[in-house]
Amino acid sequence: MSPSLPWIARFIAPAAPSDQCEHPQPAPLFRRDFRSSNVRRATLHVTALGFVEAYLNGQRVGDEVLAPGWTTYRHRLNYSTHDVTALIADGANTLGAMVGEGWARGRLGWEGAGPNKNIFADRPGLFMQLELDYGDHTEIIATDEEFRAAAGPILFDSIYDGEHYDARKEQPGWSAPGFDASGWAPVEVIDWDLKTLEAPTKEPVRRIEEIAVQRLITTPSGKTIADFGQNLVGWVRLDVEGETGTTVTLRHAEVFDDGELGVRPLRTAKATDEYTLRGGGPETWEPRFTFHGFRYAEIEGYPGQLTKDKLTAVVIHTDMARTGWFETSNPLLNQLHSNTVWSMKGNFVSLPTDCPQRDERLGWTGDINVFGPTAAFLYDVRGVLGSWLRDLTLEQKHKGYVPMVVPDFQTHAAPMTTAVWSDVAVLLPWTLYQAYGDQQILADAYTSMVDFTDQVAGLLNPDGLWDSGFQFGDWLDPDAPPENPSGGKTESHLVAAAYFCRVTEVMAKTAAVLGNSQDSARFSQLAAKVKKAFQDEYVTPAGRLANNSATAYALAITFDILNAAQKERAGEMLANLVAKAKHTISTGFVGTPVLCDALTQTGHLDDAYRLLLNTECPSFLYPVTMDATTIWERWDSMRPDGTINPGGMTSFNHYALGAVVDWMHRTVAGLAPAEPGYKRITFAPKPGGDLTSASARHLTPFGEAAVSWQIVDGNVTLAVTVPEGTAAEVILPLHPENLELEVGPGSHTWSYELPAGHNETPEYSLDTTFGVLAQDKELWESFTETFSSFFPGVPLDANNPEAKNISIRDMLGMIPMSPAGLTEALEQVLTSKNEVTV
Ligand code: BGC
Repeated sequence: MSPSLPWIARFIAPAAPSDQCEHPQPAPLFRRDFRSSNVRRATLHVTALGFVEAYLNGQRVGDEVLAPGWTTYRHRLNYSTHDVTALIADGANTLGAMVGEGWARGRLGWEGAGPNKNIFADRPGLFMQLELDYGDHTEIIATDEEFRAAAGPILFDSIYDGEHYDARKEQPGWSAPGFDASGWAPVEVIDWDLKTLEAPTKEPVRRIEEIAVQRLITTPSGKTIADFGQNLVGWVRLDVEGETGTTVTLRHAEVFDDGELGVRPLRTAKATDEYTLRGGGPETWEPRFTFHGFRYAEIEGYPGQLTKDKLTAVVIHTDMARTGWFETSNPLLNQLHSNTVWSMKGNFVSLPTDCPQRDERLGWTGDINVFGPTAAFLYDVRGVLGSWLRDLTLEQKHKGYVPMVVPDFQTHAAPMTTAVWSDVAVLLPWTLYQAYGDQQILADAYTSMVDFTDQVAGLLNPDGLWDSGFQFGDWLDPDAPPENPSGGKTESHLVAAAYFCRVTEVMAKTAAVLGNSQDSARFSQLAAKVKKAFQDEYVTPAGRLANNSATAYALAITFDILNAAQKERAGEMLANLVAKAKHTISTGFVGTPVLCDALTQTGHLDDAYRLLLNTECPSFLYPVTMDATTIWERWDSMRPDGTINPGGMTSFNHYALGAVVDWMHRTVAGLAPAEPGYKRITFAPKPGGDLTSASARHLTPFGEAAVSWQIVDGNVTLAVTVPEGTAAEVILPLHPENLELEVGPGSHTWSYELPAGHNETPEYSLDTTFGVLAQDKELWESFTETFSSFFPGVPLDANNPEAKNISIRDMLGMIPMSPAGLTEALEQVLTSKNEVTV
């Protein structure tokens, strides 16, 4: 809601000595008395340079936390609007507020990132405009010199470091009429451009749910730690009774390290809250102006007996509507999905962030670029990501490039344009357009999209290759050294060149959607040029890539850079690489989100499922077997022996790699938009692995779309729900005649028998041919492994057409002086497979 009246209010701060900008300062309280009667409607607009909680007549206004949220304050600062009619009294009234440091003034950024305090403002500025509508006239009570200020009970507050609250410093009744504020200090009006004030277009952050303590643990050193059973973002509410002046300290962390609270991954973030008791009866406290990413809280100084019911975790995040659900017959996969949802919740605290616990929690562009499609399936992110994209365009315009993090907190950082991160400017609007079908999303972002693309076009070599400048590359490739996350197997400029193929193609499509045929032609030409440059530099005519990594192949395949024959060959190469890595993960931020798609598109669904269902370290399900309840920054953030990965990038709540669940929605359950906004839907489940059922639901802009399939006793059942106003193509999974259908709105169900012979595994023996043997990849792997233990380095090639029809017995017959035990060992591999199948 915009203000109905012009701004009368000004930003105010306590008029204080010159050291006021020094930290730490207690969070100030502000108040002003006024009188009114017969108010018809009262509306309060409020914001601050920092976090703000507003009060009217002693009552907390609204239920937002961490308001006004984070935007790029230099350009726009959101204000909240509350209908406070019910709180207004006839006669004496008091308007009050408490202001914390928040993102505007508090510490931001990792060590070495540059100046890290007072980045957006250096005074705790409060802005309130209360509009009292009397029917025939309106009166405004606005922040001005009439207000008074005083230090409140929050002695210290910082997003990273926590909050210290001394209940002895509370001033009962401070925000209600009748309070004696004679000792309070004057305030002064401070400069802040009121043109930056904007009504929010995203939902506020709220307390969304509460989680009870699962167990209390005593550590080897005698500390008490509460385990909430879920890695979450928010804080702990404390119930306590004790002597005045007793201080209870809560330290937060996501994991244990050698039996104690594992705080090393937090880097410099202290994540420590302190509560000093008022005394004289039961007290309940929770922090206001900080948040933590944690599963465990260590409690020190608790007076009396600490029991589980004295602590409650309060989960906070942007109050977005949930829109996507997914389930399968495999509990581990369901947990992987739940972990992704939890990582999304924890990293959507007002803006999309990398992580919620250490000294970052920043709007890292690359993370949301790869996670965008997943986010848009799980929640309605039009508000929060739309707002963030607006910040991005403003920062980009101001700086002349897309900063690595938005809002940009680094005032002195060198300009850096990198693939996967900066090109979120193009790819995220496109992702949102696919999810919601709203052309306005593209129209709003268009200038930013074009500016970014033209800028990179200016960085290309004469052939059209993006081959210069720093690149993050396939960030956090598991084979990169822990201390150098961009030093993975895939050449970082290959990643850049591939991503620019995608970017230019999206630009051509975007311009066409917006009816700009000239731009569309221009970007199509650029797309053709950069694709040719990629082909010339990195692809052999037959489809091998110069860089033999899974990420390189997966990008070339999914970004449509290869011709049909090359794609098929690249698919085989990729499947071989994936098998060679024993279906563990060998890709980082860039490769992981597209890996399963690349395998699926090239006919290697089996390998995609083996990747998906693998539990060896590092793999998608390995963290689940290690009790993970969120997605980790690295698949091996915690190692199998329970030690924490030594790298500096070791968060246990990073949504980026959770991007794999997008493939699960579209391929395992089989629900995907066939046209932007799900105007047409594709239902094409592809069962695999040992799954016997899967389902997904999504609230599309047209209503709920749903799919579920089950295989029971040789019968497949498929059910789909098609929302009104849409149509769907259904590709029936494992159908004996490969049936494909067009259906309209409503619910549809099909039931049929599995094709004859489906899933029937042959009885393997020495008479089995190589062709048949190689179809079972797992068996083929153990067979070839056993063979090579007798003949190291001698390859067995099942793809060789001549070998396909040769039986194992015939092959053994061709080996002169066959080593003792070879036949028995191979037979043993075959028999054990037969036993498993039985
Ligand atoms: C963040 C990442 C981010 C990366 C880029 C990290 O510190 O946590 O998720 O994308 O830096 O360098």
